[in-house]
Amino acid sequence: MEHDNRLDIIPKKINSGASHDRLRDESELASKIDTWLEYWSTLYPDNKTVQEKLDHIDATVWLAQEIDIAPEKKESLKLGVKWHDIGRFWQYQYIGSFDDRIVHHQDIGGEFFDRLQQSGEVPNGGAADIIATSIKYHGRNTDELGLSPEQQEFVDLITAIDRIQNSCMGAVNYLEREKSEDSKHYA
Ligand SMILES: [Fe+2]
Repeated sequence: MEHDNRLDIIPKKINSGASHDRLRDESELASKIDTWLEYWSTLYPDNKTVQEKLDHIDATVWLAQEIDIAPEKKESLKLGVKWHDIGRFWQYQYIGSFDDRIVHHQDIGGEFFDRLQQSGEVPNGGAADIIATSIKYHGRNTDELGLSPEQQEFVDLITAIDRIQNSCMGAVNYLEREKSEDSKHYA
């Protein structure tokens, strides 16, 4: 994909003092993603497509909360799902749809997150690197990538949560359509 300089709103200063304090990293990552989701929500207040994507992310966080996983990994997983589709909003901004055949949202999201890490706006290492991997590779074949077991675990969990939530949304939409097309069954 051609470089798009709209991403240049992110400063490119390299963060020299990489931190690995897990709780501090998680709180920085949480406040950063909340700010960005709020930004997209405010930018597209009446756009059903964008608002549905925001709802999807909220629902994946709820599902992540329900996953039986070691407590120390739970916050990272919730953060991972909150971040996983950040590329969707840039994708929508660029092409006006969520069509991955034109540009993959994982690539845009990964580039965006890399920039945030380079500028020191989000931490480097630890949970942040796992989130970066999850943004880039959820829903993709990772067989040849040589991911670490922990990276692979998060990518697999986030992919599964993503698919479950999308299936639920698909089922709701299907029932809605059935209702409107065959009102006598649901009168
Ligand atoms: Fe998703």
